[in-house]
Amino acid sequence: TAARTPLIAGNWKMHKTVEEAEAFIQALLPRVATFDSVDVGICPPFTSLQAMVDSARGSIVRVYAQNMHYADQGAFTGEVSAPMLSELDVHGVILGHSERREYFGETDKALALKVPKALEAGLEPILCVGETEEERERGDTERKLRHQIQEDLAKVPEDRLADVVIAYEPIWAIGTGLTATPEQAQEACAFVRALVGQRSEDAAQRVRVLYGGSMKADNAAELLALPDVDGGLVGGASLEAEPFSTIVGAA
Ligand code: G3P
Repeated sequence: TAARTPLIAGNWKMHKTVEEAEAFIQALLPRVATFDSVDVGICPPFTSLQAMVDSARGSIVRVYAQNMHYADQGAFTGEVSAPMLSELDVHGVILGHSERREYFGETDKALALKVPKALEAGLEPILCVGETEEERERGDTERKLRHQIQEDLAKVPEDRLADVVIAYEPIWAIGTGLTATPEQAQEACAFVRALVGQRSEDAAQRVRVLYGGSMKADNAAELLALPDVDGGLVGGASLEAEPFSTIVGAA
């Protein structure tokens, strides 16, 4: 609905050096300068966060990290904490991406700590949820989404639920060129919203639910027009200013 500002966020994953990130943002800024009523996010690797925050300052582009630890500090070699990100003026953080869950042992138990920690630190979490192809085929999509949403948001107080962005990313659509049909995307995003509604009807109306999975310039408009899709989390198509800015324009 009109009350929810759409968000188009580009998840670069493990792509771009600082130099490449700079070239990207210099190409993107003029292309999005005239847009309003849409939030634009880029999610670079940790090494480019500071440079992107500096370069995006004063524009509509917000910078998100791709992961963080739930502890503020400690003996966790290789990890980065929420206060470390907010010190950089980073706007938010992707949490629970399926690649982190699959390759790096990210658990719902850890996410239940990470999501409220991000909020406390003033970061906007983008919590990713979604089913595998096998889960969809055996009719377990809703069971999977229910489990992830209930677990990962369990420790978020009702009055902060709407400050979480939830990205529905069907795993079979990520990086495969296979996009969910509009019917599948709408159904799943509406279901995610309804799950939030079990906690708070007000939060359900305000929470932003994004679609992610092979969103591209030629399918974005159709997906973004769906009533329960409030934006997109874009992977491959976010790596160049064009098509990324076209997708932003579609929102
Ligand atoms: O987080 C975004 C992502 O997983 C989708 O990737 O390349 O299918 O747009 P892609």
